[in-house]
Amino acid sequence: MAASRGKFSNKFGFIAAAAGSAVGLGNIWKFPFEVGKGGGSAFLIVYLLFSFVLCYPILVSEIAIGRRAQKSAALAFKPLGHPNWSIIGILGVFCAVVILSFYNVVSGWVLGYFVEMLLGNFEIGHHFEEYVTDIAEVGGYALAFLIGTAYIVSQGITKGIEKFSKILMPVLIIIILVLTIYALTLDRAMDGVKFYLVPDFSKLNLNVIYRALGQSFFSLSLGLGALMTYGSYLSRKENIVSAGALITIADVGIAFLAGLMIFPFVFSQGIEPEGGAGLIFMTMPGIFQSMGPSLGVIIGALFFLLLAFAALTSTISLMELPVAYMVDKHKIKRKYAVWYSAAVIFLLGIPSMLGNGYSEFFTNFITYVGADKPVNFMDFVTDVASNTLLPFGGLMVSIFSIYVWNRHKLFRELSHGHPKFPRTFLAKYISFSLQYISPPVLGAIFIITILEIFFGVQIF
Ligand code: TRP
Repeated sequence: MAASRGKFSNKFGFIAAAAGSAVGLGNIWKFPFEVGKGGGSAFLIVYLLFSFVLCYPILVSEIAIGRRAQKSAALAFKPLGHPNWSIIGILGVFCAVVILSFYNVVSGWVLGYFVEMLLGNFEIGHHFEEYVTDIAEVGGYALAFLIGTAYIVSQGITKGIEKFSKILMPVLIIIILVLTIYALTLDRAMDGVKFYLVPDFSKLNLNVIYRALGQSFFSLSLGLGALMTYGSYLSRKENIVSAGALITIADVGIAFLAGLMIFPFVFSQGIEPEGGAGLIFMTMPGIFQSMGPSLGVIIGALFFLLLAFAALTSTISLMELPVAYMVDKHKIKRKYAVWYSAAVIFLLGIPSMLGNGYSEFFTNFITYVGADKPVNFMDFVTDVASNTLLPFGGLMVSIFSIYVWNRHKLFRELSHGHPKFPRTFLAKYISFSLQYISPPVLGAIFIITILEIFFGVQIF
């Protein structure tokens, strides 16, 4: 697709690819544990606000910039007449590589749990912490997953994957829906629902706001130009504003549902909601076990298999960034670009792999100034790349699209495929948010969190 600067055959191809990128581990693995760490409903509310008020307009601009420029992220700013801004695109490429390095490790866990479920080993739920220290095993699965991603990206057969995921993603949603209904019938389920949905603003603090913002960007694949690249393959006939709305609603909807499924399970089994990155791995096997041996194996294996597919459509979009950059900019053959990226990503992933109990150094990697506990390598990388740099990328996109490229050109691009756009309510909403909400809110959060969280400067 990208090699020959192809086009999506229609709107649904684009939506499937973009939604495939957005929906992934971020929704089903990361969102629930971030809610758990962030005190439940307080996190949820902030996340919803950020997603719709702040991120949706940025998502629309990212796609518009890409479509206008007809170039992948790092090269998109030049044809629009602002070559200096390419640095933002290059930062995005760097971020994609870093995010993929740990994302791939977690994808390996998912693959491993798929196999354990097939074997009927539901006990693995109690042994997550030991499991992730088996470096040969998790390393092997991570390597297999990365090779799968690299192979697909090298062949440029993402179209086939899109078709595939158009069938598989609805199946995943149906399984989650069925599991949610099952979850709600269990003992103590309502404690989980309360934790998740009944607002408790006493839990609201800077850390929750910071993480909810990062989660919104991460989950929507926003802030590093992934959607710019996809936008560059989109036809001018299509309506970006409505496609963007659909992607946002689908992504947020699936995350919301995953939360509604997991918290009743967590509370019914007496698991700590603050469990962190292991939350779904500790919770789900016990649930499958409670369904009886044969049904449990089927549903359990299917759940982790489909989750692996959801992850795959996301890793493909992440790997496309360094690859498109090397191909477009340095004229490297697509194949070499892919395998070179894969090698770098695998090596960069090793500290994330070791940092879950195997290596003391990477497990207690860094203690932020003023914090009482160290964080592991994966958490540190998440804080830097996804919680800090993605919103920073979003800040730059909003400033660029309103002031540098300018609103009229943005609106003109959005009018292709939607001629009435400038007169709609959404036009006002999008431009208001890009101009008056994103820059001050993202700018303030960026500065305050760097000072407070990383350097321990007390501002409030
Ligand atoms: N959004 C994906 C998820 O939720 C992860 C992802 C894919 C991503 N592409 C991205 C995150 C680009 C940030 C930027 O699992």
